[in-house]
Amino acid sequence: MGCRPTEGRAAVQGLSEVEPGWRALPEGRTFSPEFLRLREQAFVWLQPYYDGRHLTRAADWMLAIAPDAPEHLVLAALMHDLERSVPGGPVLDKANMAWDDLAYNTAHTHRSAEVVSGWLRDQGALEAFVQGVQQPIREHEFGGSPEGDLMQAADSISFLETNGELVSTWAVRGECSAEKSEEKLRWMYERIPGLTRARPWALPYLERSLDQLRRATAAVSD
Ligand SMILES: [Fe+2]
Ligand SMILES: [Fe+2]
Repeated sequence: MGCRPTEGRAAVQGLSEVEPGWRALPEGRTFSPEFLRLREQAFVWLQPYYDGRHLTRAADWMLAIAPDAPEHLVLAALMHDLERSVPGGPVLDKANMAWDDLAYNTAHTHRSAEVVSGWLRDQGALEAFVQGVQQPIREHEFGGSPEGDLMQAADSISFLETNGELVSTWAVRGECSAEKSEEKLRWMYERIPGLTRARPWALPYLERSLDQLRRATAAVSD
């Protein structure tokens, strides 16, 4: 499952009026040439990644939730899971481990911070970007700081928008139970920080993902 631009655009379905456009930047805001260069290069990097739409939309939702989000935070959202594109990372046993397993999520977020900042350094990025992405990426699963809370919100709403089908296949293939798949979707919704406006925005995407899961598992048991 790649992330060619045409495929990705299909992720934008107009399910709610706040839904950002595919790779849209806020009107009237000027971005630095360095940011725009790194963003384009990141799109190339995440293209072969299995969940590239989710990453793209996390950055889109970041700018919908916080149109003035600093550039390093938008880049952090865009690449926050990419340690998974590098073999040798931590593995979550979906059937037997909690979705909020502290050891797994800490290993995942810290490794992503290392991988992404290393990649930025390889692109010749300014040190402000190399350093700036690290803490928000470390906080994307659990939040913590204002930037970390925004990461958690953008990650969650993007996940619910783009990954209903993926979570359904876990249950259909027996990687975990249907109940465990449902738990994942509900966790992604409930963990959205209450102070951001993203939680009500995420509700239609949670409901659609739950519906996809119900249909997929009902089709298997028929
Ligand atoms: Fe993650
Ligand atoms: Fe994510």
